[in-house]
Amino acid sequence: MSTVKSIAVIGAGTMGSGISLTAATSGISAFQIDVSQAQLDKAKAYHAKTLGRSVEKQKMTQVDADAALARITYLTDMAGAKAADWAVEAATENIELKKKIFQAMNATFGPNAVLATNTSSISITDIATAVGASASRVIGMHFFNPVPIMKLVEVIKGLATSEETTQRTIDLAKAMGKTPVPANDRAGFVSNRVLMPLINEAFHAWMEGVAKPEDIDQIMLLGCNFPMGPLRLADFIGLDVCHDIMMVLYRELGNPKFFPCPLLRQLVQAGRLGDKSGRGVFDYGKK
Ligand SMILES: NC(=O)c1ccc[n+]([C@@H]2O[C@H](COP(=O)([O-])OP(=O)(O)OC[C@H]3O[C@@H](n4cnc5c(N)ncnc54)[C@H](O)[C@@H]3O)[C@@H](O)[C@H]2O)c1
Repeated sequence: MSTVKSIAVIGAGTMGSGISLTAATSGISAFQIDVSQAQLDKAKAYHAKTLGRSVEKQKMTQVDADAALARITYLTDMAGAKAADWAVEAATENIELKKKIFQAMNATFGPNAVLATNTSSISITDIATAVGASASRVIGMHFFNPVPIMKLVEVIKGLATSEETTQRTIDLAKAMGKTPVPANDRAGFVSNRVLMPLINEAFHAWMEGVAKPEDIDQIMLLGCNFPMGPLRLADFIGLDVCHDIMMVLYRELGNPKFFPCPLLRQLVQAGRLGDKSGRGVFDYGKK
């Protein structure tokens, strides 16, 4: 059983905002942290809207929704969250940035706090080098998008991660209504090592004119029983996030098949990042 009462979530984007909301609806207080006030405002609006929708659909009472929202504190400074007994980093997929954040996390949170990362692909062992002797409390806690709905948490031990840290991560994932599944510390773990080549290949098929994007997705939906086509899913994940994950896979596994398709790179360069920017492969109306 998890004893975690409060959790600091660093990064208020797609994933961080979902993690803090899921913690709050599980009765855990959440400090939602981001360097960008605009991202915090967006996260807060998303929290209020999602909870409101749950009340409308009678999945939650107004009292419980209000209580969940009241459990979330929004901060631009990590220091304000130092009392948290757990920290999970969900910032941009960049190793140097994550190492800097982990140094700050190590200096901020008490020695009993676990320092988890939601990275999709970066080595946990490498991230843990940022915290020196504290590496035993660093772990991969990989949630899926959208966090309030998706059941899986991939749990990834780095070389120095302790058994206690691992067990506490499994306990917290369960307390948040998730199913933890272990994977080893290789680039992309299991989920993205298998998923990203599929998404990349869908971009190549589009670029080569094999079919229109909507038809590629429709073929995978109807022919393979996918719940969502690979191009729609890429927009949902974020094309920049997909690109960054593929680059980690490409560099770490040394296989050119992981190199992002030129068309995907072009969309990212043009700022067409998917749902979050209003347009990616498909058009969602300008944000
Ligand atoms: N998008 C997905 O479907 C998905 C799924 C699982 C895991 N992930 C992983 O989760 C992490 C976050 O992805 P995302 O999709 O939420 O990205 P995002 O681009 O939506 O959000 C990233 C957030 O990090 C913030 N940030 C940047 N530097 C920061 C700092 N120094 N301190 C605090 N906040 C900072 C940004 O302002 C932004 O709000 C990445 O490691 C990604 O690989 C993403």
